[in-house]
Amino acid sequence: MGISLDVIYKKNEVQVLLDEQRRKLSKVAFVPTMGNLHDGHISLIELAREHGDYVVVSIFINPTQFNDNKDFESYPRTLESDIEKLSKAGVNILFLPDFSSLYPYGTDNAIQLIIPERANDLCGKIRPGHFEGVASVVLRLFNIIKPEISIFGQKDLQQKLLIEQMVSDLSLGIKIIGAPIIREHDGLAMSSRNQHLSVAAKLIAVKLYKTLLDLGDLINHTNEDFTFILREAENKLIGYGFAVDYITIRSSIDLNIPNKGSKKLVILASVVVEGIRLIDNIVID
Ligand code: PAJ
Repeated sequence: MGISLDVIYKKNEVQVLLDEQRRKLSKVAFVPTMGNLHDGHISLIELAREHGDYVVVSIFINPTQFNDNKDFESYPRTLESDIEKLSKAGVNILFLPDFSSLYPYGTDNAIQLIIPERANDLCGKIRPGHFEGVASVVLRLFNIIKPEISIFGQKDLQQKLLIEQMVSDLSLGIKIIGAPIIREHDGLAMSSRNQHLSVAAKLIAVKLYKTLLDLGDLINHTNEDFTFILREAENKLIGYGFAVDYITIRSSIDLNIPNKGSKKLVILASVVVEGIRLIDNIVID
């Protein structure tokens, strides 16, 4: 006996349904996605069900966060199987906003947020404009859904921290919950991009997580300078066949360069194999 999933395309229609829930004092938990759902997304939905009474998932492939139009065009669109997964996962509403619900003036004339300079680091540096697009679409979705709670994956740690700052800076009053990274059996962090990997590229891809784990061990057991061990790790990745965008050790609180003696650290990496960009991170306390 499952609950039935409502699929809604218009913002005013979703608002009517959610107003009704709020009158019943249901806590609305929201999971924004771009679809092509895998177990990583489903784990966010499970957290949403745990923390909220009524779960809304959105699927919208947001053009303003892609700096390469080819990536946008080729983003996998798998609505039928997504709907099946969402029904099984006990989601109440799937919000599939039509373009004009989010960008009534089009994307070229849209009001966009300006994000702080420090967000133009790491993935923000490699993908100029990406996080402006993410923050702007998430704010639009938040303003339509008005959730009490929203769930974001730690896989995109920089994204999660930016959304937390946006909620705080703009006093949105939404509780952001971080969800741990879900991995394949071989350790590869789940991502819609993994399906584009050839068999040979997949064999390389699994070495990213292992390299992060080795580096984590090393940090815990030596007093070596980070610069040196990071250079070694980068060379190792290059040796496996990756092009390395970055591999770095940061504070897990704000992604700043850590001070000597900082305890809450995260190792983050972005690499490219066969033209496919993969990101991953591990937190070390
Ligand atoms: P998308 O890539 O579809 O991811 C939706 C959510 O799932 C994000 O919070 C992401 O961090 C999380 N996620 C993806 N892979 C995961 C994994 N292996 N383990 C745990 N969580 C994982 O991120 C976006 O969409 C977009 O930028 C969006 C926020 C929807 C704005 O357009």
